[in-house]
Amino acid sequence: MLNFAIETARDAGNLLVQKLGVAKVSTKGDINLVTEADIAAENLIIDRIRSYYPQHGILAEESGESVLVGGKKSEWKWIIDPLDGTTNYAHGYPCFCVSIALERAGQLEIGVVYDPMRDEMFAAERGRGATLNDRQIRVSTVDQLSGAMLCTGFPYNVRERPDFAREFANFTMIAQAVRRDGSAALDLAYVACGRFDGFWEDGLSPWDIAAGALLIFEARGRVTNFNDQPLDIYNEQVLATNGLIHDAMMEVLA
Ligand code: IPD
Ligand code: CA
Ligand code: CA
Repeated sequence: MLNFAIETARDAGNLLVQKLGVAKVSTKGDINLVTEADIAAENLIIDRIRSYYPQHGILAEESGESVLVGGKKSEWKWIIDPLDGTTNYAHGYPCFCVSIALERAGQLEIGVVYDPMRDEMFAAERGRGATLNDRQIRVSTVDQLSGAMLCTGFPYNVRERPDFAREFANFTMIAQAVRRDGSAALDLAYVACGRFDGFWEDGLSPWDIAAGALLIFEARGRVTNFNDQPLDIYNEQVLATNGLIHDAMMEVLA
């Protein structure tokens, strides 16, 4: 199933690249976009799952949760963001990815994040470590916020969440650097491979978080909410770090 997820993410990513700059863009909300490429990539992924794993459940950003024929609920659930970083994509800013995760009875089993612009495939299977293009990855060893490169994201309802500005300002004053790249799944993958030392965001969806969180767990990092509660991908809040700066970041977010 890991190979299936990898190949499917690669094909969906290549489709995104083919449509970059030509996909029609429409709006879902005030500042929330969707493109023809989001839909096409999601259809590709769902069609693949339906033909290889017809008994599995699916939760996908653009089409929601699908109920199986006969109303049966599967213990397996594929959690899909066909294009994470849609706003970047719509503007031709080359920072976006495909994110595919597989959950079994509520536990993350597989996570794949693919960046088709750099041809970087991040992949993890529970208990088997995490890889970037087949090489084992680990979180960083930075243990002070003053030496840390952090990343965050602003959810689409950012205008109703004034806390983000205070948090952003506080981390900017304390950390070595703070970035806002616009693709939460890729941000999490970057924590897993040590490019970022920590990431925080409030207002995320399960498809933004699932694959990236497993990558970090398997790369020996730590993922919780802002109050040190175990990660719940259905509960919006993510603090993801190399473990060493986790408590320090939590203090800033308190
Ligand atoms: C968004 C991106 C962004 C994050 C938003 C997400 P989308 O996903 O991951 O970085 O800040 O909260 O909704 O809409 O590009 O798939
Ligand atoms: Ca997303
Ligand atoms: Ca998306």
